[in-house]
Amino acid sequence: MQNSSRRGFMGKAFGAVAGVGAVASLYAMKRSWDPLPSVKAAGFTTIDMSVYKENELVVEKWRGKPIFVLKQSKEMLDTEDKNMSQITGKTTSAMDKKRLIKIGNAHFLVCIGLCTHLGCIPGYNPDKKSFLCACHGGRYDDTGMVTKSPPPRGLDIPPFKIDGTKLVLGEEGPEYKKMKETGVTL
Ligand code: FES
Repeated sequence: MQNSSRRGFMGKAFGAVAGVGAVASLYAMKRSWDPLPSVKAAGFTTIDMSVYKENELVVEKWRGKPIFVLKQSKEMLDTEDKNMSQITGKTTSAMDKKRLIKIGNAHFLVCIGLCTHLGCIPGYNPDKKSFLCACHGGRYDDTGMVTKSPPPRGLDIPPFKIDGTKLVLGEEGPEYKKMKETGVTL
């Protein structure tokens, strides 16, 4: 190999190595800018809605808060319809289960499990199908509506997005946005 062409070859090889080094360091820099996987995952929690049983409260966790998931039984839905029709005078079919999330044919209450009065965690009684907050005696029905003060409003619903049979907590899907617009949750 001639001297000049060897220099050319060395130059190209060095350039290639330097290029690889630059890409690697850019990659390393980008990795250090990106949030850690655990931080990313902390914002969103995906729960599989196909595993819950009717009238059995399960407490999940999202951003350090307890999340109540309560699958509604037919009896619970019928009672809610009856109670609603007494209040609104509307027929069952016209009623919109505003606080419940429908996934497939099932309805769920999914709410933040902190009393809207002063933040205690209410307990669920499956026989009475109601939540009692022992701190000051506040009560909620099985859709998280207040039935006895002092709580000023129903149990808050976390941002959610329906994804097939899963629910992504922390993302605002159209169903959640509608709940916010209509004042169902804050
Ligand atoms: S904190 Fe629940 S009733 Fe006061």
